Amino acid sequence: IRSVILGCGSYLPARILSNQDLASMVDTSDEWIVERTGIKTRHIAAEGETTADLAEKAARAALAHAGVEVSELDLIVLATATPDNTFPATATKVQQRLGMTRGAAFDVQAVCSGFIYALSVADNFIKAGQARTVLVIGAETFSRILDWTDRGTCVLFGDGAGAVVLRATEGKGDATDQGILSTHLHSDGRHHDLLYVDGGPSSTQTVGHLRMRGQEVFKHAVVNLAEVVHEALSANGLEASAIDWLIPHQANRRIIEGTGRKLRLPPEKVVLTVDHHGNTSAASIPLALCEAVLDGRIKRGDVLLLEAMGGGFTWGAALVRW
Ligand code: ACO
Repeated sequence: IRSVILGCGSYLPARILSNQDLASMVDTSDEWIVERTGIKTRHIAAEGETTADLAEKAARAALAHAGVEVSELDLIVLATATPDNTFPATATKVQQRLGMTRGAAFDVQAVCSGFIYALSVADNFIKAGQARTVLVIGAETFSRILDWTDRGTCVLFGDGAGAVVLRATEGKGDATDQGILSTHLHSDGRHHDLLYVDGGPSSTQTVGHLRMRGQEVFKHAVVNLAEVVHEALSANGLEASAIDWLIPHQANRRIIEGTGRKLRLPPEKVVLTVDHHGNTSAASIPLALCEAVLDGRIKRGDVLLLEAMGGGFTWGAALVRW
């Protein structure tokens, strides 16, 4: 059994925050942000607009694109590090709004790797025969956990949501199958202090703010991503030349281009959205995927390599034949 991605959808809040806007808030400049990160603009949720609001819009767009009715869904897996509430899961909020009263819905928390984790969980539910049609969402409002006085972090992130619909389909069991070919997950909790939020219900009873030692995160990201990308390729007996599209988590243009170069992929085979989305954490991969599907770059049969690294550390990859 393979999980075929029937369709995708995304949503970005209307408000756009530019580097110039940020330069009036903290001691930074458009030149610094573009040179170090490649980010020019990012979307920021309106007051009162929550992760569930973004997720619901992305979910409806994905269902429409896939041609799937809510009544066909068996499961919703939603990746987020910025849920509306500590509980219940934001996934159940989306479930209620879609009018889905059967099946199951839950959240997955792996920060920027969240979408890869959620996709892997959903794929395994399908392979185990426990679900046939699954909605996988990555949705975040990182603007709510940023320290807007810390120029080292507040310039990097944006809000948004993306979603895909998976369906169980018979496959031959080799890399020519359409659908998710394999997923690969890793974590290493030793690096907690390099990237974390200094709040939470059990420790401080506050929401807290994102804290990051950027340069150290950068170094780990380059190494971990290179390893997991090779793991994904060799698990399928494929060479890097088989990749039609690299769809990386969008944290930093330099990390993305470094991974592309290691794979010897020409830059036009790497989907880049960090310039206009910033880092949207678990939403960045489905947002990038959806942009390249809807503008016609990604075609049925193409081989996609998805990869991400985030707080925890967590990291992972998925190889997909679209
Ligand atoms: N504007 C101007 N100057 C700044 C800014 C800013 N916004 N932010 C930091 N600086 C200054 C620093 O204070 C420092 O000044 P100093 O030399 O006087 O001390 C100088 O710029 C250099 O700072 P570095 O942190 O060394 O800059 P670096 O080149 O490493 O770039 C960055 C920082 C962009 C954060 C980079 O390290 C990076 O992208 N790291 C990876 C982060 C990442 O990918 N995070 C997401 C992981 S996924 C997740 O789970 C959230």
